[in-house]
Amino acid sequence: MPVIGFGTAVPPHQYEEMKAAVGMALKVGYRQFDTASCYGSEGTLGAALKEAFQSGDIKREEVFVTTKLWDDEHDDPLAAITRSLKNLQLEYVDLYLVHWPLRLRKGHTLPLKEEDFLPLDIKSTWHGMEKCFELGLTKAIGVSNFSCKKIEDLLKHAKIPPAANQVEMHPMWQQKKLREYCSKMKIQVCAFSPLGAPNTPWGSNIVMDSPVIKEIAQKHGKSIAQVVLRWEIEQGVCVIPKSCNKGRITENFQVFDWCLTAEDHEKMSKLQQKKISRGEDLVNSTTSPYRTI
Ligand SMILES: NC(=O)c1ccc[n+]([C@@H]2O[C@H](COP(=O)([O-])OP(=O)(O)OC[C@H]3O[C@@H](n4cnc5c(N)ncnc54)[C@H](OP(=O)(O)O)[C@@H]3O)[C@@H](O)[C@H]2O)c1
Repeated sequence: MPVIGFGTAVPPHQYEEMKAAVGMALKVGYRQFDTASCYGSEGTLGAALKEAFQSGDIKREEVFVTTKLWDDEHDDPLAAITRSLKNLQLEYVDLYLVHWPLRLRKGHTLPLKEEDFLPLDIKSTWHGMEKCFELGLTKAIGVSNFSCKKIEDLLKHAKIPPAANQVEMHPMWQQKKLREYCSKMKIQVCAFSPLGAPNTPWGSNIVMDSPVIKEIAQKHGKSIAQVVLRWEIEQGVCVIPKSCNKGRITENFQVFDWCLTAEDHEKMSKLQQKKISRGEDLVNSTTSPYRTI
């Protein structure tokens, strides 16, 4: 799995822009792309990849594509991955993730209501994921937004353990305990919203506005985003920053020919922690597995 990937979660009015961004990212050198059925960007990513394959610039086996089973698709992962592959115009993906440890009713709309939550049957969901792997529709299977406890529950039923866990991670939400657990269980952690998702409706600017990180960046002559991504890579996780801007797509990839010092790591380890994606709309006291924030 390439250590740096490219996120593709954008609102529908940016799909065209995202298609061009994927083309730029391929030229810059990105070889890992992250999408999900719920982003609606599988078609956009698939079209951009197809153009690159047809031009002869890139071969299918040179890119690593991740997509995800949405919360209302748990009943039939095989049917869900088949839809995703059709959208992506691919014969297989490299990694297929259970997007959330959560099952929702088909046709749910936001804000979620109590009746939208269905009991999660992780044994049956994972069995469906294993089938997708066995049929060669994905090269690996994994999870996303799973805590240590949720992974432990899953492992009780798994013939094939999850290869990866994609979770929110950045300097302000370092996920130390989860990373230690995943490392012990040989599960690769992948950091989503690695920059804290600045200037998005779901994110925050707390990472990019950090004076501590800014000082480290100035010392190295790098940008704040580069220091953040380099720090994450040095923690052993893979990162999937999203950008539709050519300059920032290039900047985010220039994190391999320099490194942080032990003193930088010491300073970063002391940053105050604050989870950005708090999932308030997933909490209710009756039907949701999330009873509190
Ligand atoms: N599994 C999950 O539940 C889950 C949840 C959230 C996200 N994800 C995945 O993770 C990917 C990345 O997360 P994200 O999109 O939430 O957040 P992110 O990558 O941390 O941040 C994206 C934001 O940062 C800006 N940006 C990118 N590079 C920058 C730079 N060098 N300097 C300043 N600003 C920069 C982008 O704007 P510009 O486009 O204008 O550059 C965009 O507004 C998603 O696209 C998605 O694939 C997964």
